[in-house]
Parts: sequence; C-alpha cells; structure tokens
Amino acid sequence: MQYGYHIEATNSNTVISTLDNLRSLNMIICKTKSEVREALQVIRDNGERIGAVPTMGALHNGHLSLVEKVKSLGGHAVASIFVNPLQFGPHEDFSDYPRTLDSDLALLKAQGCDVVFTPAGREFVSADFSTKISVAGVGEGHCANSRPQFFDGVATIVTKLLNVFSPDFAVFGEKDYQQLMVITQLVRDLDLDIEIIGAPTVRESDGLAMSSRNEYLSPKERSQAAKLFETLNLVAEKIAQGRVAWADIQKWAIARLETAGFANVDYINYVDAMSLEPILSPDQPGRLLAAAWMGKTRLIDNIPIARRIS
Ligand code: PAF
Repeated sequence: MQYGYHIEATNSNTVISTLDNLRSLNMIICKTKSEVREALQVIRDNGERIGAVPTMGALHNGHLSLVEKVKSLGGHAVASIFVNPLQFGPHEDFSDYPRTLDSDLALLKAQGCDVVFTPAGREFVSADFSTKISVAGVGEGHCANSRPQFFDGVATIVTKLLNVFSPDFAVFGEKDYQQLMVITQLVRDLDLDIEIIGAPTVRESDGLAMSSRNEYLSPKERSQAAKLFETLNLVAEKIAQGRVAWADIQKWAIARLETAGFANVDYINYVDAMSLEPILSPDQPGRLLAAAWMGKTRLIDNIPIARRIS
C-alpha cells in the first residue's frame, strides 16, 4: 500500500528558538512529529493560542476558511496534510485521492497558516500500527453504513494529530457533519482539553458543497451535482410546512435525486443535530444528512433544520 508522500525541501534544520524567529520563517513546514512539536512549543511558550486544521490536502476554499477561522479567533494555525490510509476501505479511492502538495502549501501560506505538518505515511502510521479508536452512537449509521471503517480511521488519526499538536482548539468543516460529531464526542470522552469548533460549509455558486472529490465529476455530473443541496432545501421547506409525514418526504427526496441523475442514494436522514438519532420532535434542532452517488463519486451534504417555534 502506498502511504502519503515525501517533500524534498523543508526547513527542518532551522533552529526556531523565538516567536520572532518563527514569524520570520513565514510558514514552517514540518515532516516529523518532533519538528512540529518544537515549532508549536515556541508559540505555546509565548502564551499564544494554537488552532489546528487537520486536512488530507487537495485544498479548496472550504479548507482555507478553516485556517481563516483560526486566525479570526486569534490563534496561530497549524494545518496537517496527510492522506489517512486508516479511513479508506479496501476498494475506496486511497491511491487515486488527489495529492497536490505544492499548490496546497502555496494556498496555506497565502492564507497566513503558521505551521504545516506533512508527515510521510510510515513516519505517522507505522507498519505495526494496531490501535483503533471507535466512537459508538454518533459514529454509527448514516455514512458508517456504507463506509464501516471510515469513522474509526478518522477518530484514530485525529486523536493522534491532536495529541501531537496539543492545540487550544481545532476547526473542522460542518460539511462532514457526522465526522464533526464523532470528533466532538471523542474529545469529550477522552478528556482532551481542546475545543472543537465547526465551521460552515463553503459552497460553489450553484450551491454544491466544496469537496476535494468534486474534481472526480465529469462536466455533465458537475452540472447535476448541485441538485443534492437544492433537494435538501426543498425537504427543509416540506418539514417546516409540517403537512407531510417524514417517511413520505424521504421517499419524495430520493425519487427527486434519482431523477436528477444520482445513480444511488445512500441515505437522506432527518436527525437530532447532536445525537444524530432520528428526530422525534420538531421542537429539537435537527439536521438533514444525505449521501448520494453521482456516477462513481459519492457526495455528502447536510443542512440545519431550525427548531420549530410552536
Ligand atoms: O476531513 C478530512 O479531511 C479528514 O477526514 C481528516 C479530518 C483530516 C482526518 O483524516
């Protein structure tokens, strides 16, 4: 199996002893855990806050908004770029996943990111790696039904990254809403003293949620893909009207997506925004979650459903 990638040039030999020294380097690129720990310690020693942005690279404006969020909260941003083998199933797109390190680094630098961690695969996930972190409840159902290894892989790697970075807070996109809930739960359960912050989904002009996998779409598929977001919004209207039972709205939504060109709808679920259990009362804040296949590309999206004021 192929693990991650290497970059040729780093400033790993630079002695980073003061924050001014770190600032003058612009953006520090670290390939090893000890390098990144050393760089972050300089920030911590100066009493400044660190915000983490874990990514798998192939960066788009959605990722950059997470770095922006860190900066807007007064933190120094540490981003990671690591295509995590643990979260891909055997027949998924691990080897095809876009790897665009040079442009990722340029984008992060332009966004004012302070430190980037780009570990080589074996440095971070050793050949004999055997620990698994598994989050029950929010980590079950929805995406976990069709990607049974996914949330364990995410939870395990994110725990490792948070352990290496020890940030004050970490920012994740709401686009991956179930992932955000899984990470929130694991941080609470494991008493990690790190605030988890969700950032709003960034969308293309037609509403399609930005995703590194959108580049797999053919021009025709791309033109149909925004129907997912459009359908979620129509479903939200139907829920707000309160005239039709959820099971019937769900059937209608699946049929609409199939007519719009989605080959297969994995799920469209109306759930409690925190527990991700099926919603029992419109008085609770809800979330609509969906996953559907446009050709060979699996797209996910979600929107909030406001609590009904009766
Ligand atoms: O959302 C992602 O890109 C990944 O799932 C994450 C959180 C970086 C873990 O590999």
